[in-house]
Amino acid sequence: MRLLILGSGGREHAIAWKSAQSSHLSKLYIAPGNAGTSEIGENVDLSYNDFEAVAAFALDKAIDVILVGPEEPLVNGIVDYFESRDDLSGITVIGPNKKAAQLEGSKNFSKELMKKYNIPTAKYATFTKDNIKDGYGYLELMKPPYVLKADGIAAGKGVLILKKLDEAKKELKNMLEGKFGAAGNKVVVEQFLKGIELSVFVITDGKNYKVLPEAKDYKRVGANDTGLNTGGMGAVSPVPFANREFMDKVENQVIIPTIKGLRKEGILYKGFIFFGLINVKGDPFVIEYNCRMGDPETEVVMPRIKSDLLELLDGMATDTLSERDVEIDPRSAATVMMVSGGYPEEYEKGKQILGLKEFENSMVFHAGTKQNEDGSVVSNGGRVLAVTSYGKDVERALQASYEAIEDINFDNAYFRKDIGFDLI
Ligand code: AMP
Ligand code: GLY
Repeated sequence: MRLLILGSGGREHAIAWKSAQSSHLSKLYIAPGNAGTSEIGENVDLSYNDFEAVAAFALDKAIDVILVGPEEPLVNGIVDYFESRDDLSGITVIGPNKKAAQLEGSKNFSKELMKKYNIPTAKYATFTKDNIKDGYGYLELMKPPYVLKADGIAAGKGVLILKKLDEAKKELKNMLEGKFGAAGNKVVVEQFLKGIELSVFVITDGKNYKVLPEAKDYKRVGANDTGLNTGGMGAVSPVPFANREFMDKVENQVIIPTIKGLRKEGILYKGFIFFGLINVKGDPFVIEYNCRMGDPETEVVMPRIKSDLLELLDGMATDTLSERDVEIDPRSAATVMMVSGGYPEEYEKGKQILGLKEFENSMVFHAGTKQNEDGSVVSNGGRVLAVTSYGKDVERALQASYEAIEDINFDNAYFRKDIGFDLI
């Protein structure tokens, strides 16, 4: 298989790392990739939002499969673009088409789907500028905290959780008046759910599905889940409370109705589905769907998949997923993100990273890194490295990652010291 991975984060490095273990891989490209992916495959200086350029490259290099890491090209219709051109019919793009990607691209779409197919989720109502007064009335009926969600994708910032009613009303107005641009033309107001979050992933060919290892990510920048939201500061897998009983509920109440529901709506969903769930007193509720893998969850999910990833991708492409197995590594995996000081606000790039080497039990997946002409590796983003380790249990996996981090350094590096502590 000649594979092209689109993206440049820790997620894409972890997918590249896993792909490279397959005997089916004959050539690997990553666009644009980072300093880590360049050691496994060939980085390509290509914008993944430029579908024409991606297509030209894929034809030129006889690519068989394109795996799309981030949501943006999917929500913008990269799959539809490839399907619209006869000369690209030999290339499989892994991910949902534009309509199916609304699962992530439109909160209103996903809430309607969940309501229609009885998938457990927070109670909600959707408002526009035209019925903002009803929105105020709805908020008055709810208890705090108030959850407001911009319908569209707002760079991960479109969800507001507010303690006071007057703040919630003000923000509803701000959102509907363009605070998040067109993404806020519709706003979902929903009930606040209290519980522990986890991420569950499946790979599906539209009919059959395989459940991948679950994970828990740590979104806030500060210890004990305080401070600003980030792309993710660390992740662990497995998640102790996601036992057989809980995962059976997830499968029967969430995964199966979602996949069946999409089919009934006439939507062919092929690709990864990321279920952002919350455990409310032992029952799973859907907080959100994403149409891609999570980051940093992928950095612990890929290491725990024992099966050949490319065989799974092939199963999805050829509608033979039911014939494939997902074998899971019994070891735990934990990843700790080393980020640039200041992230998720202002931070500096270009800091030389020292201490990168082969570790016995750890893998360093690169996120925002770049290789300079002289061969040195420097930081090139907020999240810089995902230091992932195996362990007999989550505690030992974390310990190994924290030990590896002691050997790695760059100016102003920051990481959370309490990843996974709530689970130990
Ligand atoms: P989302 O972009 O939908 O994942 O929302 C971002 C974050 O807001 C989630 O990861 C949750 O931590 C939180 N959140 C979203 N919806 C709810 C809800 N209904 N109840 C409690 N927390 C929520
Ligand atoms: N880690 C959450 C996400 O990828 O959206």
